[in-house]
Amino acid sequence: MKDREIIELLNKMTLEEKIGQMVQVAGDAFLQADINVTTGPLKNLELSEEMLYNVGSVLNVMGSKRVRKVQDEYLSKSRLKIPLLFMDDVINGYKIAFPIPIAQGCSWNVDVVRKIAQISAMESNIAGANVNFSPMVDLVRDARWGRVMESIEGEDPYLGQIYSKNIVQAYQGNNISQLGQIASCVKHIAAYGAVESGRDYNTVDMSEREFRQYYMPAYKAGIDANAEMLMTSFNIINGIPATINKWLIQDLVRKELGFKGVIISDYGAIEETIAHGASKDEKEAALNAINAGVDIDMMSRIYANYLKEICLENKEIENKVNESVLRILRLKNKLGLFENPYGNTDIEKEKKYIMNSDNLKEAKRLTQETFVLLKNENNILPLNKNRKICLIGPYMDNGAITGSWSMFSDRAKNNTILDIFRNRVKSENLSYAKGTEILRTEEINKILKADGTPTIHIDNEQEKEKQSIKEAKEIAKNSDIIVLTLGEHYKQSGEACSRSNINLPENQVELVNELYKLNKPIVVILFNGRPLSLNNIENKVDAILEVWFPGTTGAEAITEVIFGDVTPSGKLTMSFPQNAGQCPIYYNHYKTGRPHTHDFRYLSRYQDIPTQSLYPFGYGLSYCKFKYRNLQLNKKQIDKNTTIKVSVEIENASDYEGYEVVQLYIQDLYGSVVRPVKELKGFKKEYFKPHENKIIEFKIDIEMLKFWNEKLQYVAEKGEFKVYIGGDSVKTLEETFELV
Ligand code: NOJ
Repeated sequence: MKDREIIELLNKMTLEEKIGQMVQVAGDAFLQADINVTTGPLKNLELSEEMLYNVGSVLNVMGSKRVRKVQDEYLSKSRLKIPLLFMDDVINGYKIAFPIPIAQGCSWNVDVVRKIAQISAMESNIAGANVNFSPMVDLVRDARWGRVMESIEGEDPYLGQIYSKNIVQAYQGNNISQLGQIASCVKHIAAYGAVESGRDYNTVDMSEREFRQYYMPAYKAGIDANAEMLMTSFNIINGIPATINKWLIQDLVRKELGFKGVIISDYGAIEETIAHGASKDEKEAALNAINAGVDIDMMSRIYANYLKEICLENKEIENKVNESVLRILRLKNKLGLFENPYGNTDIEKEKKYIMNSDNLKEAKRLTQETFVLLKNENNILPLNKNRKICLIGPYMDNGAITGSWSMFSDRAKNNTILDIFRNRVKSENLSYAKGTEILRTEEINKILKADGTPTIHIDNEQEKEKQSIKEAKEIAKNSDIIVLTLGEHYKQSGEACSRSNINLPENQVELVNELYKLNKPIVVILFNGRPLSLNNIENKVDAILEVWFPGTTGAEAITEVIFGDVTPSGKLTMSFPQNAGQCPIYYNHYKTGRPHTHDFRYLSRYQDIPTQSLYPFGYGLSYCKFKYRNLQLNKKQIDKNTTIKVSVEIENASDYEGYEVVQLYIQDLYGSVVRPVKELKGFKKEYFKPHENKIIEFKIDIEMLKFWNEKLQYVAEKGEFKVYIGGDSVKTLEETFELV
């Protein structure tokens, strides 16, 4: 449609029809509950039938057949036949579940992240998705927050910017109506990852400078990449809920960052401003949200029930409604929905493309880049398949390794590690036992109860657990090596999965303790959605391979890495804390007046644990041995028109081939405001042949030295800087230079 026609359409709409466009409901409203994909507290929305057939979009309806059915049902009763928009949470893939976002980020490979976004976009677009509620680019520093699993950038704003831009571009391409493209909704505006004490939906209170420095860059990058949508967050930000925060939405997002697309609230977030005590009642919640500039109310009845009354009282609000509706209609038009309300749904293509073998093969390769080797004493990995291996632990024969968001993919169909090991290891060399469950019933029942699902009871659980561990120990006795699969339950990380204790479950620690007594090498494969506190097992095992929730092809990908077909190359994007009490912990923290440089009481330190993290940001081992030397700068001074060339020599002193993530950090030694100890400003993922030597180069320019000063200006200040290069944020070579 021409834009003129869109405006004509708007002029034909009744106020009720306009308001309907600003309301989103779950698709089951049109399917009479044959699907149950909601991600918040299920609500009785109390919408009139008239309003239901005016709504503008639906949430999480997928599958060509189903999408067409909903669209047909809707259009059959809608006066102006404005098609519904289908918005979805394809967080780590549709039918092919890819590694969870935090894992994807650990690839430090933009191509990996792009490719995952492309396949996810294609699969979901054929199945009816128009908009994806992704990427989540909330910076995170506190592993207690369950949603760290969804953060593509972890604790780093530089990674956040790069990934945000690339994912948006991969989803949207040049034309969002084309097959395989979807509109991207960047979320959650803003600073949701900074909820106090890592408790979900909790308070965020921070200086604007801090917000701009660390949290804003990834949102801005998504906006600059022309993301079509933004989602507001549940939290308050400096006293005002994000969803009704005029400074945030109007001044920052619309005016300063120039965002022109559609803004949607998070699930029920407009209504929740009442619980926040920031809106007196439902009518005021509607007024506050429209005044702030929220275009779509996701899953609450507030806009549906109150906007009309408000508009009749105040003409200016009707103008705002018109602006919002115009934005929504334009998005539908860009998606080509007026010409074809079914979008790119295609039942035949679904059969051919979704879960096809090429994509599965690709998925395995991409997945392998997300694994992080945390420990590898005596080069116990890669495993020699001719040794006697005993596979133990709750994940050894468990396909539920796709994470909590993979609601469209079929967990039960995934291969398990045992399935793949069986093909790989001669049966006389392979023994196995579960050893223990992921969680004891007491723990899992707390989760199930909160979900409103039936709880579990096991008779004599304690004895059974003991017996099972004993059996595993007996079996392990006859092996040369123990491969131990451990981790969180997938329901322990994701939305509403905050935890005050981020240790491995006690029964799993018990299993480690017992196996440790056998004095055999232990290789741990770790499944989890957040950095865990590993102190109580770390010194009892020889190797740890962090595989996160690796997705559909996880078992295949893990096996190939474990046996050395592929060298692990992931690096952490979040520091692993010594324990939960150390959270929030992040590498790019400010300098204190009393840095913990030596053993002395009155320094910024803990009495009971080391000050540094257990595994730092940027860290990850390889089967290769990379040696860094000869950090050189082509000159020692830089000004606003010049750059410095930095080079470093890296040797792969091993017989393995593999990738290394070469990282460049900068430190501003002195400033008008206190500057962080180190900030990532560049990285390259480089392939090395066995024993290959390479010179890797970076360029430093003035943009890399800028920060937000006290007056909220983005500036670089003259003076001395340090540049660090290394394979993680701690072990680095360093040099100094000066900005003149
Ligand atoms: C709530 C989550 O916070 C958000 O990320 C998600 O996209 C919506 N629910 C829709 O499911």
